[in-house]
This record gives sequence, structure tokens and C-alpha cells, in this order.
Amino acid sequence: MKKLVVLTGAGISAESGIKTFRDSDGLWENHDVMEVASIEGWHKNKELVLDFYNQRRIQAMAAEPNEGHKALARLENYFDVHIITQNVDNLHEKAGSSKVIHLHGELSKVRSILDENLVYEWGDKPVKLGDKCNKGGQLRPHIVWFGEAVPMMETAARLTLQADIFMVVGTSLNVYPAAGLLDYVGDDIPKYIIDPNMPRVRSSPHLHLIEAVGSVGVPRVSDELIEKYLI
Ligand code: APR
Repeated sequence: MKKLVVLTGAGISAESGIKTFRDSDGLWENHDVMEVASIEGWHKNKELVLDFYNQRRIQAMAAEPNEGHKALARLENYFDVHIITQNVDNLHEKAGSSKVIHLHGELSKVRSILDENLVYEWGDKPVKLGDKCNKGGQLRPHIVWFGEAVPMMETAARLTLQADIFMVVGTSLNVYPAAGLLDYVGDDIPKYIIDPNMPRVRSSPHLHLIEAVGSVGVPRVSDELIEKYLI
């Protein structure tokens, strides 16, 4: 089976009702991103950050996957599909994808501020100041904030280097190191980029730019891949 590696961003979940980050007003759900999604923001106002993610958690857990997520899940019948997502929702898993790497963490999990390896499944419950791990450390969202390392990056880079086909869906490619993954893909590897507002990418010989929303573009590219590589 050919290895299909897919990098996804907020755009793939937009049609499931989850807002993207870089809307025209520059705010994320009415907040300055650095206030709620940076390590400095956490130290400045833990309660605000916890409340913010409590709302995001409830919203994400209630959301349903759309045709874009579902088409990627169906591709597992034909390809060895690996999804590298920048999203913290679990819509790829809900749609049925089995190999998903979350570069920026997961809303359904929390972790201890004392030990980053103490990670707990949390569901959609709110996290409050005073909720602690068994070592007595405050719990925080299991999210990679601005100013923090991206522990899954090495695994993602290794996978990307092994890709036979690479797909990108719904990311502005503004945030590094995730955006740099595209540079790991060899010139001879077919690349499909699906986005209604195409991000700027370096031109390369096997680059296919599909200007469409995920629910339309992903099924379209899926059909094309099946036809091209399997029929
Ligand atoms: N289908 C596909 N793509 C879409 C859709 C849609 N229906 N709607 C919007 N998009 C595209 C936009 O055109 C844009 O290119 O999704 C992209 C969203 O870009 P961003 O909001 O910048 O999201 P993303 O690239 O995932 O952000 C990366 O930034 O704030 C951090 O950690 C956060 O993971 C996030 C990272």
C-alpha cells in the first residue's frame, strides 16, 4: 500500500462549526491569541486560559466530522494513511481515521504542570483552578502553546520523509514548525493542497492546487487518487 501522509489545519474543521484562527479580525473567538494560547498568557491569567479552553472543549466535543474528515477516513481502505493534524479537536478520530498525530495537542486531554508525561483523558468536563494531578500539580490543557516545544514534530517529520503522496488540507501554513513539513517532501512526490484560499507554497513539479473547501476538495482528490493509483 502506498503511504499517504496528510497535513491538516483548522480549515478542515471549519465546516463542522469550529472557527479557524486567522479570520480577518485577527482574533480567536474574541481573544488575542497570545492571551489564551501562549505560555506567557497562562502565567499571566490561568483562570482566563482554563475558561477559554473549557469552552473550546465543550464546543469541539459536540462537533461532528464533515465530508472532508470522512473522505480521509475512507481512504484507509486504499492507502496507508497517516494524518498529521494541527487541530486539537478529535474529528479525524470520530470520522474513523486510525493513525492521527496531534502536533498541537488534544482538547480531550489534560496534563500536569509538574510533569508533562502525566496526561489524563478528560472528556468534555471543565478544568478548574485547584484540579490537581496525583503529585499535587495543577492540571492544564494538553495543548502546545506558542512559546512551547512541539514534541511530536520529529515523528511527523519522519513520516513526511516516507510519504509516497502528500496532501495538505485547510492550513494557512503560517505556523512553524508544522508549516515546514512541506519542505521535507521530495520534488518527485505528488503533493495535493486543498484550500479555498490557497496558501503561498514553493512551486514544484508534482504540485496540485485544489481551490475548494474540504468537504468538496477532499472527496474529489480522494477519487482522483484511487483512480490514478489503484484502478
Ligand atoms: N475547507 C478547507 N480549508 C478552509 C476552509 C474549509 N471549509 N475554510 C477555511 N479554510 C482555510 C483557510 O483558507 C486557511 O488557509 O483554512 C486555513 C486556516 O488557517 P489558520 O486559521 O491559520 O489555521 P491553521 O493553519 O490550522 O493554524 C495553525 O496556528 O494558532 C495556531 O495552534 C494553532 O494549530 C493552529 C496553528
